[in-house]
Amino acid sequence: MKDENRYLLALYTSPRRKGNTALLLDALASGAGEASYRVESFHTASMDIRPCRACNRCFKEGECIQKDDMQIIYPHLFTAGAVAMAAPIFSMNICAQAKALIDRCQRLWSIRYVLEKSPVDEGFAAERKGFFISCCGRDKPETFACTRPTMAYFFYIIQVKGWESLTFAGVDEAGEILEVEGAMERARELGRSLV
Ligand SMILES: Cc1cc2nc3c(=O)[nH]c(=O)nc-3n(C[C@H](O)[C@H](O)[C@H](O)COP(=O)(O)O)c2cc1C
Repeated sequence: MKDENRYLLALYTSPRRKGNTALLLDALASGAGEASYRVESFHTASMDIRPCRACNRCFKEGECIQKDDMQIIYPHLFTAGAVAMAAPIFSMNICAQAKALIDRCQRLWSIRYVLEKSPVDEGFAAERKGFFISCCGRDKPETFACTRPTMAYFFYIIQVKGWESLTFAGVDEAGEILEVEGAMERARELGRSLV
């Protein structure tokens, strides 16, 4: 992988800046640092990332008509060697902030399937790594089942071939994850695995 691509795009999507998924992503990012990956972090819940309008304008030139903060994220989706999304469960699926960002990747879908271009080199796509971090309040791991097709789609459409998830059920209050034995270490280890 080229040096310029050797970085982790860390997408914090929960509105709780010091919440459970954010703490886990902090640990993963610090592990990535140990693996000599730079880290580019974005707290997307406090950015201006609007939902997709389904205007299909991206079908014409592969660009999104909405000139909001998604324009800051887009270039990284093509160049980051690793992409981690931390998204809590809200109402039985990933939070709306995360879903809005994923829906805005319709632009990437359009580039590939309408304009028939591959913006990411296939060799690089195979090397890239994805991570999905989530927590939910109910002590029921099956709560995460609904997130899997959406996250698989996200990593597929941004051309990240291999991805892993790290999820914890029964974690509700902000910071509660710190009391879950081994949780932070598992997140850090995922980051270190980038070496
Ligand atoms: C609007 C909202 C909806 C939620 N819906 C669910 C849910 O459907 N199932 C669940 O187990 N927990 C639910 N929770 C709890 C969160 O998943 C839990 O507090 C999680 O630890 C939050 O992660 P964070 O600290 O990273 O934001 C909900 C929380 C909020 C604020």
